[in-house]
Amino acid sequence: MQRFAFVIHPIDVRCDVAKKYPIARYLPETVIAAGIRRLSPSVVSHITGIRSESTGEEAEGWFIGCPLTPRQLLALPHEVVYKKLIQCGKIAEDLGAGIMGLGALTSVAGDGGITVAENLNIAVTTGNSYTVATAVEGAKRGAEMMGTPIAEATVAVVGAAGSIGRTCAILLAREARNIVLVGRNAAKLEPLADELRAMQQAEVRVTDNIAEGLRDADLIVTVTSAVDAIIEPEHLRRGAVVCDVARPRDVSVRVAKERKDVLVIEGGVVGVPGDADFHFNFGFPPKTAYACMSETILLALDGRYESFTLGKEVSVAQAEETQRLADKHGFRLAGFRSFEAAVTDETIAAVRKAAAIPPK
Ligand SMILES: NC(=O)c1ccc[n+]([C@@H]2O[C@H](COP(=O)([O-])OP(=O)(O)OC[C@H]3O[C@@H](n4cnc5c(N)ncnc54)[C@H](OP(=O)(O)O)[C@@H]3O)[C@@H](O)[C@H]2O)c1
Repeated sequence: MQRFAFVIHPIDVRCDVAKKYPIARYLPETVIAAGIRRLSPSVVSHITGIRSESTGEEAEGWFIGCPLTPRQLLALPHEVVYKKLIQCGKIAEDLGAGIMGLGALTSVAGDGGITVAENLNIAVTTGNSYTVATAVEGAKRGAEMMGTPIAEATVAVVGAAGSIGRTCAILLAREARNIVLVGRNAAKLEPLADELRAMQQAEVRVTDNIAEGLRDADLIVTVTSAVDAIIEPEHLRRGAVVCDVARPRDVSVRVAKERKDVLVIEGGVVGVPGDADFHFNFGFPPKTAYACMSETILLALDGRYESFTLGKEVSVAQAEETQRLADKHGFRLAGFRSFEAAVTDETIAAVRKAAAIPPK
């Protein structure tokens, strides 16, 4: 039996905390945040039933709750955040885990797991390699479903200077006609733009203006660390496909209400092999997980207790290696979700109709 742990944190602060402390529903968010910070990390659930399709190897794991909000993870001094994450890691060690994954913004804070790994006797991974692999695969499939050939598409990557965004942009630039790199600091995007231009495939543009960056985009991969939504209905063209990999989400809920003619899908919903039971509802259907969770699990199943993805750089080779391990053990992109609901053939047909794209 292989063992892993995965760190999670509240994302929708009131809603997530109220699952354990119902009184939180009635308190202001600032009060909840101040209370959370005083808590110690603890085990949230025991994950059971995971089994490799090819080797038969089994794995169990634990979700460990890091009591910090998205804002706290990004704004508190790094040392405060590292201390909490190292406490999570000590719990993981005591449980016998050989590797610990860092979920959502726990991998964005500070140096992307390096300090945490240095202070633990087990491996640590951010999960960003497999997140890149599934984001690109998901975005391409979404475009296909909407009848947008990527070779003719304008593709925008929002948060392209970031760890996940950068490598997504490199992979998408191999196939797209035009690529637009969007961030909050254009100068930070220029080195990547030069790298992509040297590939001599896509036309490359850079912008720090989200409206301008998305105006002509047929396919958008958005993966920023913004704590509030940054993509609004007025930013999107008719028939656009948006793959939102960010947690918290980058796409405003207004888009779901007001733009029936665009397809928004969540990046990285992965089917986990075996009879996986997470014993915790993080908003996905049974037996499915985020890509970053899946990276942690597949490394454990393969007995690779190494700090596979650490720091802020993810290489194409790392993304490809996690895809290889996923194929080996039977992890697969599992359908699509959009704002907590499954994306069905009917959803696609309705979006195509609203966007005046002929039915398939
Ligand atoms: N779905 C999954 O399975 C999964 C797995 C792992 C991570 N994630 C999520 O992926 C996201 C990014 O992670 P990462 O490791 O790539 O983070 P990162 O390396 O910190 O990169 C985030 C990028 O977002 C940019 N950004 C932040 N606020 C912005 C704004 N308001 N407008 C435009 N750009 C903005 C940052 O700009 P600067 O360069 O100027 O700072 C940075 O380049 C996070 O939300 C994380 O929770 C999801």
